[in-house]
Amino acid sequence: MTDRYAVMGHPVAHSLSPRIHAAFARQTGQELVYEAIDVLPEDFAEAVARFRAEGGRGLNVTVPHKEAAFALAERRRSRAEEAGAANTLWWEEGVLVADNTDGVGLVRDLTGNLGWSIQGRRVLLVGAGGAAQGVVGPLLEQHPAALHIANRTVERAVRLAARFSGRGVPVSAGGLPELADFPAWDLVLNATAAGLRNEAPPLPDAVVGAHTLAYDMMYRLEESTAFVRWARERGAQAVADGLGMLVEQAAEAFRLWRGVLPDTAPVLASLRPRK
Ligand code: ATR
Repeated sequence: MTDRYAVMGHPVAHSLSPRIHAAFARQTGQELVYEAIDVLPEDFAEAVARFRAEGGRGLNVTVPHKEAAFALAERRRSRAEEAGAANTLWWEEGVLVADNTDGVGLVRDLTGNLGWSIQGRRVLLVGAGGAAQGVVGPLLEQHPAALHIANRTVERAVRLAARFSGRGVPVSAGGLPELADFPAWDLVLNATAAGLRNEAPPLPDAVVGAHTLAYDMMYRLEESTAFVRWARERGAQAVADGLGMLVEQAAEAFRLWRGVLPDTAPVLASLRPRK
């Protein structure tokens, strides 16, 4: 029987993951099928068990199931442990293992595909929810000069920053309006869910300067995201959205399952050539 993989989410119909993994499988000569399964939050554990019973080998997990996937796992890799959430599941000798490839996906897109360095840069992470939480550890491993986490609800940013203190990189936290008091950042990452409503988070203009690289962890295929437009209008040096992060996190999941890291460049280019 062909090895089965899937992404579970809600909603999930528009997920690009089946296309991405089919392209990886073709490229690496691996035989597998990969589908998208819409699962309601209350049905998650049962859906995973059913998938396994039907011969499933591994899963990607997206909103809103990443914390549930983490909780369900019987063994957790350090990247999942650190994020408190999992986006990749598979079975090893019957044991359900969880990892989180979002952070490494972001870092590979920034430093590899885009050629933006993080080392020595002042980095602003906007948002303190699940998406932000998943990327702080891998960002700090790149040794930025400083990381500031800003969130609409300040308390959430403070709590997230506290979890990552003492790693040799100053990590600070605050709200959104007070960003007006800081000099423009080298790298600004949008990890808020504001883009779901096609909005940019309400940031002061001072966040962006002529040297600022602005990255939206969300993407839209046919047009720029609201945050990308916002940063471009304020004269950012370069802007990018999260399509590359999506492809890179998928490649790392594929490696965990299949033992081979696919070449992401042709797949990313086939989804949407970057200008
Ligand atoms: P996710 O897993 O996508 O991060 P989440 O955990 O609900 O989802 O977190 C959403 C993040 O986007 C939070 O940082 C949220 O800010 P709050 O913690 O204050 O809720 C942020 N967010 C969502 N909509 C926003 C908006 N319109 N402006 C600014 N921040 C927003």
